[in-house]
Amino acid sequence: MPGPVIQWFPGHMAQTRRLMRESLSQVDLVFELLDARVPVSSRNPEIASLLAGKPSLVLLNKADLADPEKSDRFLSRLSANGEKALLFDSKSGKGAEKIREAAGEIMAAKLEQNRRKGVNKPLRAMVVGIPNVGKSTLINCLAGEKKAKAENRPGVTVQKQWVRAGKGLELLDMPGVLWPKFDDETTALHLAATGAIKDSILQADEIAFALLRDLIRLYPAALCARYGLMPETLESDPYEVYLAIGKRRGLLKSGGDVNEERLASLLLDEFRGGVIDRITLDEV
Ligand code: G4P
Repeated sequence: MPGPVIQWFPGHMAQTRRLMRESLSQVDLVFELLDARVPVSSRNPEIASLLAGKPSLVLLNKADLADPEKSDRFLSRLSANGEKALLFDSKSGKGAEKIREAAGEIMAAKLEQNRRKGVNKPLRAMVVGIPNVGKSTLINCLAGEKKAKAENRPGVTVQKQWVRAGKGLELLDMPGVLWPKFDDETTALHLAATGAIKDSILQADEIAFALLRDLIRLYPAALCARYGLMPETLESDPYEVYLAIGKRRGLLKSGGDVNEERLASLLLDEFRGGVIDRITLDEV
């Protein structure tokens, strides 16, 4: 299900900046979650200035749904930029140890300083990211049980609490909800395809048709395999391809026309569920 509708008015952004500043003073580092299917579109445009120099670990979450080749390329790009990053799948939680290790490496100097002083304090981290990117799932997965309780909405006052996330790590159970960027239509459509923007903001058929155009261009073989299309079909007008999928799936109205509402839901559900293929929509 898509995340809650968040209208990012300037007032909300100002409030988020304030909350981030307050929370950042209580943590050693930040886990910045991106959606591996849209790693560029899901990055908050102001993250660097919001972090104000706080060390961070970028987690490309939902890696199980994303194109592995593109994920690796994006990781290399971040690494060339001097950013520490890991691929992760919070749903399965496999490889969570790597996150703890990476946090330890990033904070090695501080840990060494603490050790010399005889201080044995866990590292404290805060999880930030746009709606629906998997912040609560990550916190629960690192904590080993369903612990994240905080209202995942900006402007909701909740009691902050720390949850233990294994040896040597504590997480602030108040995921920082960042606003996504909407500076161009492609970004908005990519975010909407993943469910980061609620379907009621952009029309589902508009999102699904834009997704189909991307799939024709980027993943033609997977598209043909999933919907039983001939490769030549993809050379026709994209709207014909769209209707062909509806017909193949028998999504017809009583008069025989394709039921485009059901077709839009089908395409979006199948993309979001990862059943078409492992797909990354952003150019990386
Ligand atoms: P948020 O706090 O950032 O808003 O995101 P949240 O953890 O609520 O996760 C949003 C949706 O994304 C959830 O699905 C969650 O299960 C799914 N999710 C999170 N991380 C991953 C991941 O690494 N891989 C996959 N495949 N899915 C992930 P949902 O359908 O809303 O809820 P549910 O039915 O799974 O409980």
